[in-house]
Amino acid sequence: MVNVNIERAKYMAEKFNIPYYFSSYEEMFKNIELDAVSVCTPNKFHAEVVIAALNNGCHVLCEKPPATSKADAERMTEAAKKNGKMLTYNLHFRQSEEVQAVKNFIDAGEFGEIYAARVQVLRRRGIPGWGVFTNKEIQGGGPLIDIGVHMLDTALYLKDYPEVDYVSAATYDRIGKRGGLGLMGSWDPAKFTVEDSAFGFIRFKNGASLMLESSFALNIKDRSLMNVNLFGEKAGATVFPPVIYSEK
Ligand SMILES: NC(=O)c1ccc[n+]([C@@H]2O[C@H](COP(=O)([O-])OP(=O)(O)OC[C@H]3O[C@@H](n4cnc5c(N)ncnc54)[C@H](O)[C@@H]3O)[C@@H](O)[C@H]2O)c1
Repeated sequence: MVNVNIERAKYMAEKFNIPYYFSSYEEMFKNIELDAVSVCTPNKFHAEVVIAALNNGCHVLCEKPPATSKADAERMTEAAKKNGKMLTYNLHFRQSEEVQAVKNFIDAGEFGEIYAARVQVLRRRGIPGWGVFTNKEIQGGGPLIDIGVHMLDTALYLKDYPEVDYVSAATYDRIGKRGGLGLMGSWDPAKFTVEDSAFGFIRFKNGASLMLESSFALNIKDRSLMNVNLFGEKAGATVFPPVIYSEK
């Protein structure tokens, strides 16, 4: 167990019967030999810790999002390849019964080609009033990187990760900068440096497209919404819960 806050490392080690705890990963790798590590630091530190773990011969499960920049994500992938170790990310919705059920139908050819998709991860008033979620320096971004990433990954996974042609997007911080009702407490609008909503359109090289909406705060009807819609030649689907729409 490693935590820069040694008291927390000690608490968790004792709670889960872990024989060792340290205040830095350097100290851990110097003292013990490990097969695999799970990296759950704030986003900003994923790359540094993951690369150190891979260079120390460990397989790695890293929390989502992989990194706060494309360059860091690529460095992490390179380190995994160089060391011949497995690097995977905790984008766990892929393993859900809902996603696997839809995937079975896709693999059986029930959808034909899936040419479009819509990803929505929306909160009406859900700017977190705790943690580092509103701090771009540490978190790397707002709702898109925190919650949107789960459904974006789900949609891309179900579409078999087509190669991206281009992305067009816009982000806003109108509510975050103004202040208001938060989620479990209130945030400081003066220190709000992430987006409160993000809207995007992805065009893939195979001609398919994906619309994306993600928010911590947005003036909408529902309190929160989290889903993927797929539009195929022979059928469409909503993933959560899995419902398939076809002419059958
Ligand atoms: N997969 C999911 O659904 C899911 C859910 C929640 C959080 N997460 C991810 O988990 C990560 C952590 O989120 P959180 O909400 O638990 O954050 P947190 O701030 O509550 O906890 C992070 C912990 O990391 C420690 N830490 C900071 N820098 C460190 C370092 N260099 N080395 C060791 N420890 C360090 C902090 O002291 C803190 O205890 C984030 O990347 C987040 O996106 C994923």
